[in-house]
Order: sequence, then structure tokens, then C-alpha cells
Amino acid sequence: MSYKQTKIWTVDNVGSRSSRPPNIKEAALLIKNGDVVAFPTETVYGLGANALSEEAVQGIFTAKGRPSDNPLIVHIAAQNQLEDLVLDIPEKAKVLMNSFWPGPLTIIFRKKDTLARAVTAGLETVGVRIPNHPVALALLEEAGVPVAAPSANLSGKPSPTTAKHVFDDLAGRIAGVVDGGVTGVGLESTVLDCSQERPIMYRPGGVTKEEIEAVIGCIDVDPALVTKSQTPKSPGMKYTHYAPKATLILVEELEDLQKHIDEARAQGKKVGVLTTSEGSSNYQADVVISCGTRYDLSTVAAQLFGCLRDFDNQEIDLILSEVFPEEGVGAAIMNRLNKAAGGHIIKG
Ligand code: TXA
Ligand code: MG
Repeated sequence: MSYKQTKIWTVDNVGSRSSRPPNIKEAALLIKNGDVVAFPTETVYGLGANALSEEAVQGIFTAKGRPSDNPLIVHIAAQNQLEDLVLDIPEKAKVLMNSFWPGPLTIIFRKKDTLARAVTAGLETVGVRIPNHPVALALLEEAGVPVAAPSANLSGKPSPTTAKHVFDDLAGRIAGVVDGGVTGVGLESTVLDCSQERPIMYRPGGVTKEEIEAVIGCIDVDPALVTKSQTPKSPGMKYTHYAPKATLILVEELEDLQKHIDEARAQGKKVGVLTTSEGSSNYQADVVISCGTRYDLSTVAAQLFGCLRDFDNQEIDLILSEVFPEEGVGAAIMNRLNKAAGGHIIKG
């Protein structure tokens, strides 16, 4: 479907359950009635459609150019909506829901047949979360239906952390964008499969492995997250993702980075560097972008996707990036950077 105009609703006040502002009501009604509308969550912007309608959900795949074998996460406003969607709620999942919902944790359950088939892409399971963002929650409450929502970028591009990012990718392809400002976490939710005896993490994200293990004990990690040669258990993790236009290469040794910049520039390339505030004065390159501070990796998570998009606007040929420790949110940062670089890393 194409739209002559993609609406932008700027929301700075979500009102209360009994008195929602007209912009939230309009966007929610469009979703309920089968349109595709982008909205902010605490992780990244999502592209929402009524998860009960086959046609509405197809609209998401068309707008994004998303492969149809990649299932969508279902967003709900409250825990009592879950019973309609899943066969059972395992004990560990209950503990996780009470600890991390609303929040950046997607839990995979065995599904009931209530949702449009396209949501789960033929799988017997469904991923669900309650987002922790006032605009998302108001919209979900007002729509009154479960909302399927992937990240609101064109397939393959970095996920959007502002309404402008969404607009840049999807103007003319979706009914509208609810603008609730910059998202907080900046990286997507953690995806954890609780449909089997032992929970297994498919995607590191806003809730860390350490935080999950503190409440339910040891979890498994999809071997594909560790060994790049394995096929990931989550369909979406096998695709190229988050890729900026320029070639991105990760450099393990910070001391070597300037040498690699110089070599590429000697070949006539326009070179960008992705660093932090600690490193930004150390490099001579065509463009140097700082994405936060190493002393608080949540700042890097928040800015990473926006920085990758900034390079796209600078006509860079090659981006060389520093790497980060794979602990806490660092695991999610490195997962996204590795994917954006297509696994291209210069080892120390
Ligand atoms: O933070 C987020 O999770 C954002 C916001 C909008 O909520 N959404 C998001 O959706 O990142 P998306 O579609 O970009 O990523 C969903 C990931 C994909 O890798 C998909 O394959 C996986 O979750 N997934 C969804 N349902 C699954 C299932 N039943 N089994 C395995 N993986 C699943
Ligand atoms: Mg995505």
C-alpha cells in the first residue's frame, strides 16, 4: 500500500485512560482498523498493526520489505491480555514478567491460534512484551487489540530511535508516525524463549543476561550468538541488519585504529570513525562520531543506531569502529555492531 501522506502526530501528553488526547485516539483507531502506524517504545520505534488481522499484519511486511519467514513481536498493554494469546505461562516466565514488564524483554511462549498467522511466520510460538513507554502504553490501551510491531526501519537498516529516522525510511509507505521524542534504551528488547524447559536467549538486548539470571538462575544462549557458523534459532537473527551504506569494520585494538584510518585514506577513501567521548580527540579522520562514554555503556546503546545513520548522511566510504566489552548491555551493543559489520573485524 502507498500513502499520499504519512501523518505525524506529536505527542507530549498522553492524558489518562478516560481522557486521551485526539492524536493518540486517531492513531489507535487507525491501528485497530487495519492501518500500519509507527510509535515510540523505550527501546526503538515500532511499526504497529492489529495482530488479529491478517491483512493488517501483511501491511507491516510490505512497508518494511521484511522477509515473510521472520516473526513479529506482539505488544500488549497489560498482563491479562496474555492468556488469550498463549497456551501456558511457565513459572519462570511469570517471575520474569513480574520483574521486567513493562520493559525491554520479549518472552517466547507456546501460542494459541488467536493471532493472524503472518505474525508468527508459521511457528508454534509467539514472542510477547509490554513496552515501558507512556505513549506506547496509551496507544495499546486505546487500540484495545494486541499489536504486532517490528522495529520501524526498512528491512536491513539500523533500527529507528527518533520519529525522523522512521520518516526517512517509511514516508509514503505507512499511515503515520506517533512522535514521542527520542527512545531511551536505543537497542531492541532481549528475546528469551521460555517455551521449553530451559530458557534460551536468542537476542541480547535491553535486559541483560546477568539481570535475567539474577531472578531465574542460569539460562542458555543460542550457540549462534557465540559461534557465527551456526544457524540462529530465531529467524530474524540470520539476516543482515543495521547496515549503514558505508562498509563498517570493527577494530579490536584501539592503538591500531589510526594506522587503519591512514591506510584507507591513502587509498583515497573517505573514512569515518565510531568512538566514544574518551577517544574522539585521538583520531584524524574525515568524520569522527562519538556515541557516548565507555564509563556508562547505556549511553552507547542509546546513541549507536543514530550514529550509524549519521554516517549515512556524510557520504563516507569506510567506517572503522572501536569495540566494547561484551558484559551487561555491552553484549547487545557488540551483537548489533557485529551484524552491522557483517562480522568484519580486525583482530588484535
Ligand atoms: O525492542 C524491540 O523488540 C522492538 C520494539 C518495537 O518492540 N521490536 C523489534 O522487533 O525489535 P523486530 O521484528 O525487529 O525483532 C524481533 C526479533 C526477530 O529477530 C524475530 O526473528 C524474533 O524477534 N522473534 C519474534 N518472534 C519469535 C519467535 N516466535 N521465535 C523466535 N524468534 C522470534
Ligand atoms: Mg528489527
